[in-house]
Order: sequence, then structure tokens, then C-alpha cells
Amino acid sequence: MLFTVYTRQQLLKCIQTARSSGKKIGFVPTMGALHQGHIALIRQAKASCDIVICSIFVNPTQFNNPTDLEKYPRTVAADRALLYEANCDVLFLPEVSELYPDGLQLMPINLNGLDTVMEGVFRPGHFAGMVTVVNHLFYAVMPDVAFFGEKDFQQLAIIKYMVNELNLPISIVACATIRETDGLAMSSRNIHLTTEERKQASVIFKTMEACSKLKSDKTPGQLKQWVKNEIERSGIFGLEYVSFVDAATLQPLQQWQLAPQRICLAVTTSKTRLIDNMAL
Ligand code: PAF
Repeated sequence: MLFTVYTRQQLLKCIQTARSSGKKIGFVPTMGALHQGHIALIRQAKASCDIVICSIFVNPTQFNNPTDLEKYPRTVAADRALLYEANCDVLFLPEVSELYPDGLQLMPINLNGLDTVMEGVFRPGHFAGMVTVVNHLFYAVMPDVAFFGEKDFQQLAIIKYMVNELNLPISIVACATIRETDGLAMSSRNIHLTTEERKQASVIFKTMEACSKLKSDKTPGQLKQWVKNEIERSGIFGLEYVSFVDAATLQPLQQWQLAPQRICLAVTTSKTRLIDNMAL
């Protein structure tokens, strides 16, 4: 049974009994346009929690480009069907005024430089809006565990930091990126790819994968140039950025290190922008 609720009050009523009887609440926040990547998060939550809540909320404060907000796919009926099939228990579908009763104000928080690199450079204000809404959602849902995809690696790092900084009693579980058979990371934005772009999109995965081997004879700087050439060779994709970073601090590497490191990149096409990352 999937219950759909629209307000904090309804949500509270819906999960009160579960909460008072000590049941473990899992939470998967989304912006909708659900795909198998989101459903994998729901399934992972179902495997370890008693009640799973999914929110769908297209958060206006994390879009720095109004056209992007406008064209963000909204597919609630199809999303609901997928959630039902995945045995999700509660769908929280708030209006903007429900999450932002005092207007679209941002939460003041210092993110320790995690927000000023990579996506933070190309999407100014994005992370301030993202942490604000995740914080509002956490207070509305009060989950024991929240599940986030590694696909948005920088987002995941920032949420872990925020939870730690604010001492929120919520465990954050990182879930592996779910990919199409050719390696393209599942994303709500993939529907904006033309047939030709979709055909060529595996270049993103293949290029990242090759970096693990190539790093033994190239510096991070040399490998960045190689990645740019590979991505742009087809004439279809542009490379917005590629960064080899320390997986914990997200700071760019000048040389390879033993501590976990990651390649993160953003690629542009005619109508959209895709991000991806991989452990190296
Ligand atoms: O990853 C997303 O879909 C969004 O950034 C999130 C975490 C739901 C906040 O709006």
C-alpha cells in the first residue's frame, strides 16, 4: 500500500504509530522523474528499514537557471506507479509553500569549501538551495536513515558534512550509481538526449574507466587534457569540467595519492548537461 501525503501534518499522522513503536524509518528524497536509479535507492531502503518514505519535490532554490527549473520533467503519475511497484510505503508530495512557509529563504551554513568546487563553480547557489531543502525535508520526515546516490557525489559529500555539522541523528547511506548497459549513468536528464547523443553517451563512462589505467603514466593535469580530447572527439559533447579530487575533501589533486580519489566531470550536449564520477 502506498500512501500519498501532501503536508507535514498528514505525514506525521501517517508515520506516528510506526515512529512511536520504534520502527526504523528510511527516506529517499527525490525531485521526481523517477528511474531505476531512484528505485534502487527505494529497494536498498526497503531492505534495511521498516517504513520507507520517498519525497518528490522540485526544489526551486537549487536551480540557478529558471529555464532548467521550468523544463525539469514532472511525471508524478508514472513516479507513483514505480514507487507502488517497489513497495514504497509513503510518498510525500509537498507544495512549495509547505516546505518554504516563510518564502524561499536559504539556510545559512558554511560548507567548508565543499560547495565552491566543480558544480559549485558552474551552478552558483545550487548547493545552498539543496542543503536548505534537504534540511527542511529531514525535519519534516525525521528519518533514521536517508539514502543518496553516488551519482551526485558532491551532493552526497555535502549532505554528510551538513548532517555531521548540525548533529542530526540521521545515518546517510551512499548507494552505488545505477548505469544503463552501455555505462551511461541513469539520470532524469537523459530524456533530453537526442537519439545520436544517446548513442554516443557511453563515451563518458568509457573515458572515466580508462583513467584508472592511464593514471600510472600521466599526471592529473595531463589526464585532464586527455579526458577533454576523448569527450570532445565526437563533436557531440562538450566538457564543462573534469576534476581529479580527494574523495573526502573534493579538493583537486596535483598528484595521485593513496587515499580515495575520484574523477568527477560535467558534460554538455545540445539541450542538457550530464554529470558523472567514478572512484579511481
Ligand atoms: O538529488 C536530488 O534529486 C535533489 O538534489 C534532492 C536531494 C532531492 C534535493 O532537492
